[in-house]
Amino acid sequence: MAIFLIGFMGVGKTTVGREIGLLQDLPVIDMDHFIEEQEGRAIKEIFREEGEDYFRTIETQALKELKKKEAVITTGGGVIERIENRDMLMESGKVIHLYCSFEELWGRLEGDSERPLVQKNSREELRNLYNRRMPLYRSASHSEIDTTGKSIEETINELRHLVGS
Ligand code: S3P
Repeated sequence: MAIFLIGFMGVGKTTVGREIGLLQDLPVIDMDHFIEEQEGRAIKEIFREEGEDYFRTIETQALKELKKKEAVITTGGGVIERIENRDMLMESGKVIHLYCSFEELWGRLEGDSERPLVQKNSREELRNLYNRRMPLYRSASHSEIDTTGKSIEETINELRHLVGS
């Protein structure tokens, strides 16, 4: 069964996922990297050349392919946008929401040049996106870890208890 890490951009899904994979002796699959390899281009290029809707469609396809894996799967922050994806997540594995306050996330995201949604949106627009998405993360996860003010090590320790390693 897969362990999915979901949460807003910058929360540390990829970093935390790598560590949990090592601890659980499970492969780690990063959905954004998987998509980039399949497409042969970076996420920001896919957004620029094809638009967000196209990205969302291939993101759903990627989730369909990956959901059966015995692996830790780190997702992109927008994977919960589509109801179809939320249903797939909840049915396919153990879904953990990594939460963090917007203020702390903004400190990490400000000036990011790789994330198209950070480039495109102002701080206030991003905060709106964050507020809109929060109930979606919560409805598509089995448990939540508040990472606000915590080190990666502290977050990993909490996660270990949740996944039992
Ligand atoms: C997105 C988050 C990104 C990436 C894409 C869209 C989003 O992943 O999938 O830029 O909609 O929140 P990270 O959460 O890993 O930054």
